[in-house]
Amino acid sequence: MASQEDIFKKVVSHCKEYGFIFQSSEIYDGLSAIYDYGQNGVELKNNIKNYWWKAMVQFNENIVGIDSAIFMHPKIWKASGHVDSFNDPMIDNKDSKKRYRADDLIENKIAQYENKGKTDKAKKLTDDLTKCLQESDLEGMYNLIVEHEIACPFSGTRNWTKVRQFNLMFGTQMGSDVEEAETIYLRPETAQGIFVNFLNVQKTGRMKIPFGIAQIGKAFRNEIIARQFIFRMREFEQMEMQFFVRPGEEMKWFEHWKNERLKWHLAMGLGESKYRFHVHEKLAHYANAAEDIQFEFPFGFKEMEGIHSRTNFDLNQHQQFSGKKLQYFDPELNQNYVPYVVETSVGLDRTFLAVMCASYKEEEIVNGDKTDVRVVLALPAFLAPVKVAILPLMKKDGLPEKARQIMDSLKQEYSCAYDEKDAIGKRYRRNDAIGTPFCITVDHQTLEDNTVTIRYRDSMQQERIPIDAIENIVREKLKVGVKEVKLVV
Ligand code: GAP
Repeated sequence: MASQEDIFKKVVSHCKEYGFIFQSSEIYDGLSAIYDYGQNGVELKNNIKNYWWKAMVQFNENIVGIDSAIFMHPKIWKASGHVDSFNDPMIDNKDSKKRYRADDLIENKIAQYENKGKTDKAKKLTDDLTKCLQESDLEGMYNLIVEHEIACPFSGTRNWTKVRQFNLMFGTQMGSDVEEAETIYLRPETAQGIFVNFLNVQKTGRMKIPFGIAQIGKAFRNEIIARQFIFRMREFEQMEMQFFVRPGEEMKWFEHWKNERLKWHLAMGLGESKYRFHVHEKLAHYANAAEDIQFEFPFGFKEMEGIHSRTNFDLNQHQQFSGKKLQYFDPELNQNYVPYVVETSVGLDRTFLAVMCASYKEEEIVNGDKTDVRVVLALPAFLAPVKVAILPLMKKDGLPEKARQIMDSLKQEYSCAYDEKDAIGKRYRRNDAIGTPFCITVDHQTLEDNTVTIRYRDSMQQERIPIDAIENIVREKLKVGVKEVKLVV
C-alpha cells in the first residue's frame, strides 16, 4: 500500500499534470511558496468560494459581504498589533544556511519522542515549549534546541544561530517621491478590512447586532519556512467572517459558530473522522477563546480554520488609533457599546488541498483478463471543475452536431466540456482524473430516439436515459453540499 507521503507526492503531481496548480514563474525556476491555479484549479477554487459565500452570506439574513482593498493605512497594522507582534521565532543553521522556525524544530522533536514511545520526554518538552511561546522566551527556545540535541535535517549539525523574531508582514513603498515614500503593508489577514468598515456597513446596511461581515480575499505572509505545497504559502486566500455581538454574549456565539463551521466542512462529505477541534494553548493577544478545525492531511492533522473570540480588542484599538468612535447604539438596551467579535477564518487554499487529498484515489479495475489502475478524483460533485462532459462516440454521422446541441442546452447552468478525441474509454479516464461526475455519450441510437448514455464517475455505471432527463439527474446530484448546511437566523 502506498504510504501517506507517496500519496501526497502523487496529489502534488496530479495537480500539475491535470491543470489544477502550477508553480508560479515556473519557466524562471519558480518562486518559493507561490503558486498559480490552472484551468481546472480556478474552477474548483471558485466553486469552494461560492459554497462558502452561499453558506455564510446568502443563507444568513444577518451576514453581508464586502471586498476591501489589500493595501490599507499603515496605522491599521500598528493598531491591530501586527507591526509589533506578528512574529515567528526563527533560527539559522550556519552550515546548511537553512532557516527554520524554532518552534517547528522543537515540535518535530516532540513527534520523534512520541513515535519512539518516549511519552514522558514528549510531554515535558511540550510543556517547556508552551511556556516559551507564552512568554515569548527566545533564549528559552534556543536552550531547548541545544538541550535536546536537535540537528539541522540538511547538514546534520547543531551549529545554530540564536533564535530571533521575524516579522511576517511584507512591506512596500507607496508614493513616487523616494524621500517621502511611505512603507505600507500587504495585508496579512483580510479581517482588518472588515473591522475598519464596521460602521460603514452597519449604518448603510441598517444592520442590528448580532450581525456579520464576510470577505474572501488575498493575504500575504513572509513565512519563514513555506512547505507542504499550498498548505503554507506566502500569498494565499482567506474566507473570513467577523460576527459582531453584545459584550458578554461572545461565548454563546463562539460555540454557535464552531458548530456551524464544522457542519460546513462535513457537508462536503470528505469523511467525518478527518476533522477534529484543537483548543489553542497560547491565545493570540486579541482573543479570549480560540479553537481550530483541523483536517487530517497526508502529513497529519493540521489547522484548516480558526474560530476566535476576539473580544472588542480590534475595534477598541482602531477607535484609539483613528480617534473615531466605533460604537453601536443598541436600541433594545438603550445603550452604546463597542461590540465583541467572533471570527471564523478558513484558508481557501487549505480547503482546496483537503478536497484534493481526500478525493484522489487509485482503483484497481479488473477487466476481463487484465487489471489496470484507474486514477479518479472523487470530488464532491458540486465542487467539480467540469460537471458534465459531452462525448460523441464518433466524429462523424451527425454525432458531433447532436452532442453540441446537448452541450448548448446544458452550458447555461453547468460547466460542460466537449471532447471528441481518442477512444471513449480514454475520454472517460481523462474525465475521471479531473473529477467530472457525469459523462454523456452520444451515439447512433441518440439520433434515432433522443436517448444518451450517462456514465457516473464513482460507480462507472452507465444507463440509457432520454436527453430531457439529463438536467434533472445532474441537478439532483449537485444539490448535496449546500442543502445540508443549516440556516442560521
Ligand atoms: N484573521 C485571523 C487569521 O488570519 P490565522 O489562523 O492566522 O487567523 C486563518 O489564519 C487561516 O488562514 C488558517 O486557518 C489557514 O487556513 C489560513 N492560512 C494562514 N496562513 C496561511 C499560509 N501561510 N498559507 C495558506 N493558508 C494560510
